[in-house]
Amino acid sequence: MYQDRVRLASLQGKVMSAAQAAEMIQDGMTVGMSGFTRAGEAKAVPQALADRAAKNPFSITLMTGASLGNDLDKQLTEAGVLARRMPFQVDTTLRKAINDGKVMFTDQHLSETVELLRNQQLKPVDVAVIEAVAITEEGGIVPTTSVGNSASFAILAKKVIVEINLSQPMTLEGLHDIYIPTYRPFREPIPVVRTDSRIGLPYIPIDPSKIEAVVISEKQDSCSTVLEPDDETRAIARHLVSFFEGEVAAGRLTERLLPLQAGIGSIANSVLHGLIDSPFKDMTMYSEVLQDSTFDLFDAGKLRYASGCSITLSERKNAEVFDHLPNYKDRIILRPQEISNHPEVIRRLGIIAINTALEFDLYGNVNSTHVCGTRMMNGIGGSGDFARNAHLAIFVTKSIAKGGDISSVVPMVSHVDHTEHDVDILVTDQGLADLRGLAPRERARKVIDHCVHPDYRPQLQDYFERACAKGGHTPHLLGEALSWHQRLEEAGSMRIEEPMLA
Ligand code: COA
Repeated sequence: MYQDRVRLASLQGKVMSAAQAAEMIQDGMTVGMSGFTRAGEAKAVPQALADRAAKNPFSITLMTGASLGNDLDKQLTEAGVLARRMPFQVDTTLRKAINDGKVMFTDQHLSETVELLRNQQLKPVDVAVIEAVAITEEGGIVPTTSVGNSASFAILAKKVIVEINLSQPMTLEGLHDIYIPTYRPFREPIPVVRTDSRIGLPYIPIDPSKIEAVVISEKQDSCSTVLEPDDETRAIARHLVSFFEGEVAAGRLTERLLPLQAGIGSIANSVLHGLIDSPFKDMTMYSEVLQDSTFDLFDAGKLRYASGCSITLSERKNAEVFDHLPNYKDRIILRPQEISNHPEVIRRLGIIAINTALEFDLYGNVNSTHVCGTRMMNGIGGSGDFARNAHLAIFVTKSIAKGGDISSVVPMVSHVDHTEHDVDILVTDQGLADLRGLAPRERARKVIDHCVHPDYRPQLQDYFERACAKGGHTPHLLGEALSWHQRLEEAGSMRIEEPMLA
């Protein structure tokens, strides 16, 4: 069956087992693998690496597009294969190894990894392992459900292993648009001028002589684990929809809005769901991951076009979409993550970027990555690429976490991913703070009035008033600014009993 998919006849002789192909990867190497948000990752070769390392230990630097499915990060961590990992992950076992200092994790803006590689600012990729639906007659690699960093990994690597996945539908061919920016210092503008601009090739063009192994696999992508909307995420969506209505009424947006980007996770997915019952129509997306909500918006007749770099769906949506892919095909495009997240394109198109914060502070600084300032959650992902360059940089979060022991709105964030200069709008289930054009003290008042949970409002108000009494453009009480986090670590809750407030 694979002969139809390996269309360059000379490569048919290179078909081998995953274990044989994995022998190309040796201790100390840097490996670039396909995979973005559990979509389109190489599956058989990493599994073979984990199996081999369990018997003969070795370790590598592993780069991907973003997170891997099929528990591969877990298995590679348990087998000790990962010395260094970049640029993103979401796995519990790997997260623990990172936080224990056992795996060195480079948390990177997702648009940047291949730029750094191309400019020799990272160690070069020795071997690329790329999942594909097919290899063309000329040796071009047709990716599967994600493009991620696959194109540049394959182009820059010394050797390439292609995993032909027979379970990925051939209808994926034609969906991808592979464009690699020209080299500095004479780089041309990236010619994406609309969400639906096609500027490249439907396959990854490489010298086929670099393909040293072809592995046949059949394992499917893992489905996404996003949760259904709940009362809080529905409230967040409502606040955002009414904010957009205000922007339309003021003439700053039309009812098509501007191209939407929505981050990973349950909250961002639910917020997009909220647009199904909104008055907006003919919308477009210029995003990273196309999640369930993208296709629900298509099905509701609300969305006209979606550009992303991967498709990650729940079990419910997976069959619906992939069984009817031709119905969606002229309305979606998958690009390299360097292009889906490119600052130049984001600024040009005027993206409305909606990403999730773990916590934000009085003045609008956002922490997306570090629990209590030290423990890595997932990584910054593409949120920084989008937020800094967006038309509207919006961050959403539930106002409290862990049953109310954590306030997501704090005096000072314990780690900064997005600074006050990048952030326009903050939204929680309590309300929305529009920070545009405001000075720090004005921003703080909006955040206290609109975003903080009532259980924490007096506490935050008290902090702010005492900080203002001390003075400063951005008033703080340095000895107290991180006391909420300290109290959480020591007493299990950020709450102070009201009589103790000054
Ligand atoms: N402190 C500690 N834990 C917190 C917290 C805080 N301030 N706020 C939320 N959490 C916990 C939640 O309780 C939950 O824990 P659980 O998994 O044990 O239930 C977990 O963090 C996830 O939070 P949840 O509210 O379910 O949101 P989510 O699934 O939407 O994920 C992020 C939120 C921030 C972790 C996720 O969006 C992320 O990794 N973002 C960074 C990368 C990014 O934005 N990429 C998008 C660019 S396209």
